[in-house]
Amino acid sequence: MKTLVTESVEIASEIVRNGGIVAFPTETVYGLGAPFSDTEAIKKVFDAKRRPQDNPLIVHISTPEQIEQVASEITLSAATLIAEFFPGPLTIVLPKSGAVPELVTAGLETVAVRMPANEIAIALIEGSRTPLVAPSANVSGKPSPTTAAAVIEDLGGIIDCVLDGGQTRHGLESTVVDCTGETPVLLRSGSLSIEDLRTVCPDIKKLEPSSDLSRRSPGLRHRHYSPEAAVLAVNTPDPSPPPNTAFIGFMTAGEGYDFVVPVETKEEYAVRLFEFLRECDRRGIQLVHCEAVDEAGIGSAIMDRIRRAAAD
Ligand code: TXA
Ligand code: MG
Repeated sequence: MKTLVTESVEIASEIVRNGGIVAFPTETVYGLGAPFSDTEAIKKVFDAKRRPQDNPLIVHISTPEQIEQVASEITLSAATLIAEFFPGPLTIVLPKSGAVPELVTAGLETVAVRMPANEIAIALIEGSRTPLVAPSANVSGKPSPTTAAAVIEDLGGIIDCVLDGGQTRHGLESTVVDCTGETPVLLRSGSLSIEDLRTVCPDIKKLEPSSDLSRRSPGLRHRHYSPEAAVLAVNTPDPSPPPNTAFIGFMTAGEGYDFVVPVETKEEYAVRLFEFLRECDRRGIQLVHCEAVDEAGIGSAIMDRIRRAAAD
């Protein structure tokens, strides 16, 4: 199959309406979209990504009202978070409506929903005339794509179309919050920090690894963000690293590194991390040193991704 790369929302949404699967930019990372109720197209999404079927998908909406199509109830904490942060890099988990196929939720009774803060994404959802499921547009286990070229690298020849909207603004995925219970629970740290969430939901909890919710968030179990190289979090650059080693971080790295990406802020670190990991693969890097950052603000999501990239 030839994958069409286009900047035309009209063309891309026509492909979705005709049953094709289309990668598109959001403010976080690129997603791979299909209508939330079209199980044939959704199966193609799972196949293209080689995604385990027990990992549920996020439904992307273009207006807050569309939540009612996919959720059976909007809890108080959800309403508070929606009012403050939609559109934005926040995904909320709610009890699902009967309209959402089991394939989307991996058999769970809940559905994850978000409204991206990206004009192109919103226009695609509107042009498709339905909310779209969209996992990150990478092969499962790889770093999420932040450019159309990274999508093509993983899924070129496998998906119908990439809607090219340039580099994504945040670079790490959305923050996922379970709003089904009395107290909202952070399931995945992401572009929106827990400090930001606490400004309107002071009681929000972090997920206990041993909790029941942990079982209910299957994405946490799977291998993630892994380049071919081994990844290590470091506090300072190595003055004499082994051959074929790369570094990303704030400090000035010595000449021993084969590839260095310097960053000035945590926001820039977040934007560049996944593309850095991909570039390491392109260059045949064998060991990656990521400078550890403090966990305030976006730092928590950066460290989460580095730890998971380092985990295997
Ligand atoms: O920023 C993002 O969220 C990007 C862009 C494309 O929107 N999407 C994304 O999707 O990261 P994906 O499929 O790569 O990650 C979705 C995460 C997974 O960890 C999944 O397990 C979790 O959301 N999830 C989805 N539905 C859930 C549910 N009903 N309950 C708990 N977790 C859920
Ligand atoms: Mg993903």
